Amino acid sequence: MHVRHATVRIMGAEARKGGGALIRWGERRRSAAMHLDSVPLLSGSKFFVGHNLELQRERMRFLDRIAEENAPMLRLRAPAAHLVVINDPQILQEVFVEKAKSFHKSMLVKWALYPLAGEGLFTSEGDLWRRQRKLMAPLFHQAQLQRYATDMLACTHRTMDPWKDGDVVEFANAMTKLTMGVAGKTLFDADTFDDADAIGEALTDTLEWIGEASGSFYGIAHLVARRLVLRAAEVAPATLSARLSAAAQRLAQPTWIPGERGKKFRASIAFLDQHVQRMIDERRASAGQRDDLLSKLLSSRDEESGAGMNDKQVRDEVLTLFVAGHETTATGLSWSLQLLCEHPDWYAKVQKEVDALPADPTVADLPALGLCLRVFKESLRLYPPVYMFGRQTLEPVEVGGVTLPQDTVVLLSPYTLHHMRSVWPDPKRFDPDRFLPEAEASRARYSWLPFGAGPRVCIGNHFAMMEAQLVLATLLRRYRFESLGHAEPETSATFRPNTAMPMRVHARKTS
Ligand code: HEM
Repeated sequence: MHVRHATVRIMGAEARKGGGALIRWGERRRSAAMHLDSVPLLSGSKFFVGHNLELQRERMRFLDRIAEENAPMLRLRAPAAHLVVINDPQILQEVFVEKAKSFHKSMLVKWALYPLAGEGLFTSEGDLWRRQRKLMAPLFHQAQLQRYATDMLACTHRTMDPWKDGDVVEFANAMTKLTMGVAGKTLFDADTFDDADAIGEALTDTLEWIGEASGSFYGIAHLVARRLVLRAAEVAPATLSARLSAAAQRLAQPTWIPGERGKKFRASIAFLDQHVQRMIDERRASAGQRDDLLSKLLSSRDEESGAGMNDKQVRDEVLTLFVAGHETTATGLSWSLQLLCEHPDWYAKVQKEVDALPADPTVADLPALGLCLRVFKESLRLYPPVYMFGRQTLEPVEVGGVTLPQDTVVLLSPYTLHHMRSVWPDPKRFDPDRFLPEAEASRARYSWLPFGAGPRVCIGNHFAMMEAQLVLATLLRRYRFESLGHAEPETSATFRPNTAMPMRVHARKTS
């Protein structure tokens, strides 16, 4: 064990010097890639449960420990699974970009997300994913995004205009309401402001359960059972095989969540379903084609069969986009403002940038709001809303000179990657200038991955960055914010702040 650790310390040191030492090492030994066992094991693995309890109960500490190791690749232990976490930009490029075809999304994450996202764009695979991505991509092209700016600004005003000088606002909740309003309006032409609190509550509940369930023994048990049933289906006679395959399909999603928790979870999902169904029904009933996502989904036809999308598929896409499209951006905006309040020197610089605008920001001002964008990017580095996600190997595949067996779970934690000393000097320091063009150009391409990478990169990344720039600039021109307490990230499905982030707002004189 000691020897193995020493080997990896050397790899880490090489990676610090030149980047991608594991790759060079792998190239030298192309004919004999290393076995997974030679990747160092993170300390603290317990008998049978491995690292699973720590992942469940002390997730933040667990992530900090991984970052502290500063190793390009670490092995983790969990019941019935091979698991590695990768923190090296070159190896991540192999997994997410160059060899993306050898991976699919992690079964455990898909299992936990199924009740909310079903077979939507985030969770689907293969032909279904390709078809849906192609259908939705035009809505996120640059020209289209610019048209969303008006709605983004209108939702910002609707949120902040009622604030009076000296009010204490729950900033994190306000950002959720704002970004939910933007997602509802731009993607589905729906007004969510009146229902925002009820939707927000249902979503909070749902995301908390997903966060806990995605590494749980309950989920692992489902997937182990599913694997056994699938194996049995392979050797069973035809009639039994079909029934076993159907049973395996049922195990790919949570079968029953017991107790009060389960009751609340089911009620929240039912509430969200009703809401979406109402939106679909109203749109099907209304005449005329609108230029939003919902209309596109409802009018799309399969190229071969000519069949339209059924309501379940539309529901899955709508909920996926609605949740993915606002929760993460709200979280990023909340952290941005807390970071600015805690770093008055940077706050003053941003204030100067927004005060230099002749009037409230519009889409034409985006090029003049470079620092607002850098602040948002740096907040996504320090507190990436999607702090951990994964892939699973479809076949044995070599990455970083190591052969990963079929079904190995590869974890990417943008949080640990963004805290690697070898990639980000003085990683805990808030410094938006890390995102000046020359600084970005000097870093390895896949060092900053809050939006993922490769074919499954976040479809809404430019949408989110433009929204954040406009919202931050508009808020900071109108009010000075005074933070009334420090929030820490909660390890729910996203890195939400653990408080409502109370802030006192002071009205400013700008128009
Ligand atoms: C700061 C804001 C955001 C962050 C940090 C974020 C993060 C991510 C990440 C990490 C992924 C990739 C997950 C993986 O590879 O397994 C992803 C995918 C996705 N995101 Fe975002 N996202 C944000 C905003 C948005 C917005 C605004 C939308 C839509 C309006 C959106 C819609 C999606 C969808 C649909 C996918 C799945 C794409 C696919 O698999 O083809 N996201 N997001």
